[in-house]
Amino acid sequence: MRRKRNLEARTAACSAVLAGRLENYRSRADNITGVIDFTRIFGNSNPVRLEIGCGKGRFIRETAALNPGVNFIALEKSENVLITALENSVKEKPPNLRFILGRAEYIGEILESNAIERIYLNFSCPFPKNTDAKLRLTHSRFLGIYRKILVDDGVVELKTDDLPFFNFSVKSLTENGFAPFLNGEPYKNGVTGKILTEYEEKFLGFSKPIYYLTAKKTTRSPV
Ligand SMILES: C[S@@+](CC[C@H](N)C(=O)[O-])C[C@H]1O[C@@H](n2cnc3c(N)ncnc32)[C@H](O)[C@@H]1O
Repeated sequence: MRRKRNLEARTAACSAVLAGRLENYRSRADNITGVIDFTRIFGNSNPVRLEIGCGKGRFIRETAALNPGVNFIALEKSENVLITALENSVKEKPPNLRFILGRAEYIGEILESNAIERIYLNFSCPFPKNTDAKLRLTHSRFLGIYRKILVDDGVVELKTDDLPFFNFSVKSLTENGFAPFLNGEPYKNGVTGKILTEYEEKFLGFSKPIYYLTAKKTTRSPV
């Protein structure tokens, strides 16, 4: 995708819905120093859910609107993509939704332990080459971070059209302190609560099967 014009200025204009940026990809959380104070941002202590790789943000905007008693944080590494979510949200300024520009690799540095009740992974990039496996958002290096930031009975919820990525995720979750629950069938539109993501709509249009799981954090240590 071509870089959009005036991206920096446009992102800056959306500061009302941007909780911060994690821009120094190579070393550490850069622009956000310390952990995010959800009570300050949201003005309440409602439970917080996190979407990682939110893309253009349709799923999280609609989910937040339907769940005013829950707070939502959406993370996306691509500013070029996130700008759509930011500009759509800034008009509404939903009180229970904020975005972070940055990579999942660093999210553990800015979120407290036991802070998140649910993590959504919607159509995460499957990175099919074995040499790229560590980039998959269900690789053990991410699951360690998720275990830290999730509450004790916290849940990862995953949807994908990519069966090899789904199978990889089931195995990785099982080996890294999560108990995946599979409904045994390819996901049918509506199973997770009717809200489609941009990618989901596209794949359903091609009649592609979609695979779905939820995985609860377990108390046992990863194998
Ligand atoms: C295939 S898109 C899906 C977007 C959206 N969730 C949907 O279902 O329409 C995957 C998104 O995850 C983002 N992403 C991939 N790896 C990431 C990472 N390590 N940290 C944050 N975002 C990431 C990509 O930039 C991309 O926008």
